[in-house]
Amino acid sequence: MPNEAVKPSRRDASTYEIAWLPGDGIGPEVTREALRALDAVASAHGFAFTAEEHLMGGAALDEAGVPFPDDTRTACQESDAVLLGAVGGPKWNDNTGDQRPESGLLALRKALGVYANLRPVRVSNALASASPLRPDRVSGADLLFVRELTGGIYFGTPEGRTDDGARSTMVYSEAEVERIAHIAFQRAQRRNGHVTSVDKANVLEVSGLWREVVTRLREEHYPDVALRSLYVDNAAMQVVRDPQQFDVVLTGNLFGDILSDLAAALPGSLGLLPSASIGGAVGVFEPVHGSAPDLAGEDAANPIGTILSAALLLDELGEHEAAEAVRHGVDATLDAGFRTRDLAANDEEAVSTSTFGREVATRAADHSPQNASPSLS
Ligand code: NAD
Ligand code: IPM
Ligand code: MN
Repeated sequence: MPNEAVKPSRRDASTYEIAWLPGDGIGPEVTREALRALDAVASAHGFAFTAEEHLMGGAALDEAGVPFPDDTRTACQESDAVLLGAVGGPKWNDNTGDQRPESGLLALRKALGVYANLRPVRVSNALASASPLRPDRVSGADLLFVRELTGGIYFGTPEGRTDDGARSTMVYSEAEVERIAHIAFQRAQRRNGHVTSVDKANVLEVSGLWREVVTRLREEHYPDVALRSLYVDNAAMQVVRDPQQFDVVLTGNLFGDILSDLAAALPGSLGLLPSASIGGAVGVFEPVHGSAPDLAGEDAANPIGTILSAALLLDELGEHEAAEAVRHGVDATLDAGFRTRDLAANDEEAVSTSTFGREVATRAADHSPQNASPSLS
């Protein structure tokens, strides 16, 4: 059984090599702030890092003719971690198949074998008032989406146009379901001991298998974890109605994509959510949001999702105290009242992406290692 606890640790490295893939739209703006936060905590926590920039997505299509160039693949495979912004945008919307920026992202995930996409969603008191939902309903919500990332309908064959339409196929093997379910149960053991598995077993055969495998795995290996299965339509409603009922939410690739964007409405902005994609030799750390063409180039995007992705990157490298310092930097900046445009009461009160990032970096650097508390994940 895969066990995260016995994974070989890279924590002995004193210099981490980060493959930096800014990508498109707001990707360069938000990843720059994540690197600033890393820079602010590195030396105080006894490590250094390099961040070598590589082409990805639409930027790679423009420069190299493909969205995930071989050079980028090699650099990612040889790195300690990948920090990614976002890919895609209107310029490439008419591209098809392998010429889409998004297909490069799928190829990256597949090449690195990162089958487990972790998407934590927390609503702090500071943010509850920014929620479109009632603060008393969302305050304190703390969910962890564990989304399967390298299978399902994103990668099913056959796929393509037919004589009279098109076809995409949702396929999961038992082994694929098992390995992602192990991750969900193991994360639940470190959190509140509860997994909600999301499927459409009342309609889809592939979901029937999903539910069977998850239920059996819990009986055989995780009797200490509570499990319930919900149909995806009900799950979507429950996330909005009463988010506090959830701990770990286990999903396939497509359902997790949709539900995690939905859950971003709980704290009030998609710009807040980070993610870690793990399970291969090298992890990929990127915000949940996309390239936000409507904000690109305005220095207005919220960098928190990407900065918190950098904190998850540090956790994965074993640098938990540094990760905690970065998280402290974000919380303290919010507590001090700084808001980017997506969360500000009005545009006049909003600060820029770079101003917010500098405030986070200053507070993260000030957070003394002795006062750090354990990792949240
Ligand atoms: P999006 O996530 O880019 O934007 C959705 C909405 O959220 C927009 O209103 C945007 O302004 C807002 N938003 C997103 N990030 C924000 C931030 N950091 N701060 C403040 N507001 C933010 O989704 P979309 O508009 O559906 O897609 C745009 C492009 O991004 C498409 O090409 C899509 O394929 C791509 N995309 C890429 C990724 C990725 O690279 N991981 C993820 C999602 C979408
Ligand atoms: C995400 C994105 C991607 C996905 C797209 C851009 C391929 O929406 O990371 O959530 O659907 O996985
Ligand atoms: Mn998505």
